[in-house]
Amino acid sequence: MSKQTVRDIDVAGKKVLVRVDFNVPLKDGEVADDNRINAALPTINYLLEQNAKIILLSHLGKVDHKDPQKTESDKAKNNMEPVAGKLQEKVDAKVHFSPVTRGQELDDAVAALKDGEILVVQNTRYEAGESKNDPELAKYWASLADVYVSDAFGSVHRAHASTVGVADYLDSASGFLVQKEIDALSTALDNPERPFVAILGGAKVSDKIGLIEHLLDIADKVIIGGGMAYTFYKAQGHEVGTSLLEADKVEIAKEIMEKGKDKLVLPVDTVVAKEFNETSDSKTVKASEIPADYMGLDIGPETIKLFRKELEGAKTVVWNGPMGVFEMDKFANGTLEVAKAIVELPNANTIIGGGDSAAAAIKLGFKDDFTHISTGGGASMEFLEGKELPGVAAIKERK
Ligand code: 3PG
Repeated sequence: MSKQTVRDIDVAGKKVLVRVDFNVPLKDGEVADDNRINAALPTINYLLEQNAKIILLSHLGKVDHKDPQKTESDKAKNNMEPVAGKLQEKVDAKVHFSPVTRGQELDDAVAALKDGEILVVQNTRYEAGESKNDPELAKYWASLADVYVSDAFGSVHRAHASTVGVADYLDSASGFLVQKEIDALSTALDNPERPFVAILGGAKVSDKIGLIEHLLDIADKVIIGGGMAYTFYKAQGHEVGTSLLEADKVEIAKEIMEKGKDKLVLPVDTVVAKEFNETSDSKTVKASEIPADYMGLDIGPETIKLFRKELEGAKTVVWNGPMGVFEMDKFANGTLEVAKAIVELPNANTIIGGGDSAAAAIKLGFKDDFTHISTGGGASMEFLEGKELPGVAAIKERK
């Protein structure tokens, strides 16, 4: 990366404002998945070794600022305090928590911070100005520190006050996570070892158009599975029963098929069920034979064979999006088998582009078997689409 990294700037004994992505799932007031906290530890621990005073900013969930009642309930639901508690279990340093995002109480907490201590600030989205990249808010947060470190890879596609705005007022550098993510994802985009196969799934074509098109330009094969395959079936002239269908994207699916030709690989069979639940009556049918009262919920065995064949010999694989409703065991087989096929490839660079496919791979037991599992859903997708990431663009260039 051409950007300054945390090792390029002087952080010893300094107040360091670090944007992390602690947007983690909470269940009954507890952190239900701490992957993103773990991913931020290398930067946090490095700063602790340097005796920095660390001020951590992150968003958590979404906060509606239009309807005041909703604002209050969103704030209550997305309180950062349990996340600060979780971090305390993982670091050998005192972790303080500021329940406010600005004002005297936060100023005092920063002033009281000792070398080698951490202050977790309340959810940045408590502030309406965060998502609007309000310069006044950014300037205030920047005023709390001496330098800024961007380590929230999952949020670098957001041009918000805490991800972009603060960098206007402070010297800035990337943290180790941002560096690692960009380096890993770049191996697929810049000079990938070939054959390069992309496997794309997930519910909606509309979310993935840019990604499919960009990968058709640079990969040797683009395999499509998941809910979005049904819009492609429709584009092929098949009926899809009650499966997920984006009728207004059928034309785009046709254009993608024309552009992709043999490079684009679609499922040939599908597991269908009458209802969206595990107890529903289910069977496997050909892609062209989905009954009118059934919905497709996973890829079928012939498709798994086909995808395995397409993956044979691949040296670079990018996977984004599950092949079916992996959250239900009955429809997790396609995703499980694709994950297995990828991790069994000898000497391949295997990358999961975050979001649901990362959750699926981890749930199905492949946490340590890929070369890289991104912590960013939208961020990794935008990067793989070839878009500029504002949270990375904002970091100062290395001299
Ligand atoms: C994510 O979970 O993808 C990131 O934390 C970004 O969250 P957002 O989509 O609410 O901005």
